[in-house]
Amino acid sequence: MSSYDKTKEINAEGGGEIYPWTEQKNRVAALTAGYERQKHHAVTSQPTAPLKDHLEAKTKDFIAHQVQSEKYWFQKIELFPGVYSPGWSDPASEKLPYYGLPEDLSGLRVLDIGCAEGYFSFEAEKRGAREVVAIDSFPDSIRRFNIVKNARQSNANAYLCNVYDLNKAQFGTFDLVLFYGVFYHLKHPQLALEAIRDVCTGTLLFQTYVHEDPKVQGEAWAQYNPYGLMSGSNNENFDPTVFWLFNATACIAMLDHVGFESIRVVSDSPKPFVLRAESIEQKPGCPVNQATAPWC
Ligand SMILES: C[S@@+](CC[C@H](N)C(=O)[O-])C[C@H]1O[C@@H](n2cnc3c(N)ncnc32)[C@H](O)[C@@H]1O
Repeated sequence: MSSYDKTKEINAEGGGEIYPWTEQKNRVAALTAGYERQKHHAVTSQPTAPLKDHLEAKTKDFIAHQVQSEKYWFQKIELFPGVYSPGWSDPASEKLPYYGLPEDLSGLRVLDIGCAEGYFSFEAEKRGAREVVAIDSFPDSIRRFNIVKNARQSNANAYLCNVYDLNKAQFGTFDLVLFYGVFYHLKHPQLALEAIRDVCTGTLLFQTYVHEDPKVQGEAWAQYNPYGLMSGSNNENFDPTVFWLFNATACIAMLDHVGFESIRVVSDSPKPFVLRAESIEQKPGCPVNQATAPWC
């Protein structure tokens, strides 16, 4: 791989060298400056205005009020028959057909990592999973997940948890782990795969964005973006949370390295890129023993 030849130019502010990531670094600094200006008036979670006379309201209207109070929805999910959350992404058409989710999940313990508002958790429950555990590292995801959960009277549970913190003692083990759309957001992707390996005693379904550079075809290749990426047709979108871009070979190599077996491509034509892999330790998934769990 060629080494990066950094320029010695001084930027306009005279503040330092210009690197390929300088624009993104400056954007992160601008976002941080914006945060610093208002942090003493800010809250973690946006407040929801109370619904007047909510005890007299129909449940349907109460839930509609909660849904409408959210400023942002990512996933379009059915709340009641024929009524959907206003997400801009429709996983039913854009993802589900390609993501390798088996039709019948009867009796399985399923973990949905990076669940967002829970589309795949609720789909797994619909397909017969005996238990669905979801995690996400973003508090707003958990709040919106719970709005959908209540609307659907779902038994899936979402926890605020980073993928690195998954462990058998707290979460038990799983027959099926869904790891969709998270890998490129991670600073420590190999560490995440190690944590997943420890809780997965069945099958892993893995979806990520892959970047193929013809110059390194067949080699395990990665690009590090220390301050995120610009995307969109005119580089108009800034996502500070995209740290690594891997090619398909690197994704397979990393799963192989942590000990997954029978790794095969479920979809790659050309997107989305989805892998299925099996745990070495094939055992039925179990919840933790409540008599020895960390919280007892
Ligand atoms: C692009 S969305 C994918 C959502 C869903 N899995 C799907 O495929 O539609 C990525 C989700 O992963 C969550 N996430 C990002 N980094 C994470 C981490 N380190 N641990 C757990 N969740 C994470 C984000 O908050 C977000 O909800």
